[in-house]
Amino acid sequence: MESSSSGNGDDCHVKPKKQALGWFEWGRGWYSIIWEFLFQRISASHLENPLRLPPLPGLTCIVTGSTSGIGLSTARQLAEAGAHVVMAVRKTKLAHELIHEWQRERSGDFPPLNVEVMELDLLSLDSVVRFAEAWNARLGPLHVLINNAGIFSIGEPQRFSKDGYEEHLQVNHLAPALLSLLLLPSLIRGSPSRIINVNSIMHSVGCVDTEDMNVTSGRKKYTSLVGYANSKLAQIKFCSILHKRVPAEAGINVMCVSPGIVHTNVARDLPKIIIAAYHLIPYFIFDAQEGSRSSLFTATDPQVPEYCSILKSEEWPVCPYISHDCRPMNASEEAHNLETSLDVWEKTLEMIGLPIDSLDKLIEGEEVQCRYGSAKD
Ligand SMILES: NC(=O)c1ccc[n+]([C@@H]2O[C@H](COP(=O)([O-])OP(=O)(O)OC[C@H]3O[C@@H](n4cnc5c(N)ncnc54)[C@H](OP(=O)(O)O)[C@@H]3O)[C@@H](O)[C@H]2O)c1
Repeated sequence: MESSSSGNGDDCHVKPKKQALGWFEWGRGWYSIIWEFLFQRISASHLENPLRLPPLPGLTCIVTGSTSGIGLSTARQLAEAGAHVVMAVRKTKLAHELIHEWQRERSGDFPPLNVEVMELDLLSLDSVVRFAEAWNARLGPLHVLINNAGIFSIGEPQRFSKDGYEEHLQVNHLAPALLSLLLLPSLIRGSPSRIINVNSIMHSVGCVDTEDMNVTSGRKKYTSLVGYANSKLAQIKFCSILHKRVPAEAGINVMCVSPGIVHTNVARDLPKIIIAAYHLIPYFIFDAQEGSRSSLFTATDPQVPEYCSILKSEEWPVCPYISHDCRPMNASEEAHNLETSLDVWEKTLEMIGLPIDSLDKLIEGEEVQCRYGSAKD
């Protein structure tokens, strides 16, 4: 493995930063992915479809990326169980059309769904700040934030957001991290509350090089798989530190979930022949409703906060992670590397333009200044 050492004498005592997985870890990562693909339906066979939810009146949930796939199914089911759902999306017109359709399909005896739409484009950190400011200005509680929106631009060349970050990193990790931190005042008002990050088993083949988060140094060749897997691993690492550092009294539980391998629009960039193959193997692949079960379970099950506090008190190095079968799962060995998780935490705060002591300040109810948020798109 390459070392990041510059070669001067002092560097011999510095542990080289890991830039890639070893063959064994990489093989084990792929084994976990293939195992999930082949056996997800069997391991989740104890679950109902749709998952039965308790009545949720009085629960306010923000679901990002709820115009498609897992997020759409999650938002609709939460709303049908009585929750107040905020669809945080970039296609606001489509979201309004969906709500209209859901209301129309409800039979006359039921009250109308309590769903609203707010604009959020994760490719713009200014948009994230504007969203959080608009939400926090209501001074109401937020009980559940589901960071669901994500991209996997399979086979596409490397692209950067206008903020200068590799797009998978920004949409799947940086923007949700900024959103979670900026919404802390509302999550404290909604305490006990939950931050749920829709992650992926693909994190098992990721390895975050904190000195090259954008994968531009040339030390590692960029592919969309590298971009996606690294962004999902970075998300677990950031959440692990957030989970550790949020004081128990704040009552905010931070978790990741794996939805399974799900037939959604996430594969829209795949070659047509592979999309066709997706349709030929429906037995193995979940539909969006099945894929939404881990998010819905984690958002509503009463035992989840207890599980979070056990991991917190045991100082487990990784945040709680719920699998596609709604059971706790162990994230990859690389996710357990606390040293890199701390690096990811610090680097992320720098990249999203927040001061290093932001978490403490937000928990204390103080304001923090973010570098983003002033520009209009
Ligand atoms: N499907 C799977 O097999 C699978 C497996 C593991 C994990 N996941 C994760 O599950 C989550 C949901 O994905 P999905 O499978 O349901 O895919 P999907 O059908 O493509 O839905 C993704 C959602 O994210 C939104 N989104 C993308 N870029 C955005 C941006 N810049 N700002 C705001 N919203 C944006 C999309 O909105 P637009 O329509 O505006 O693009 C869409 O609503 C993702 O985090 C994904 O990584 C999926």
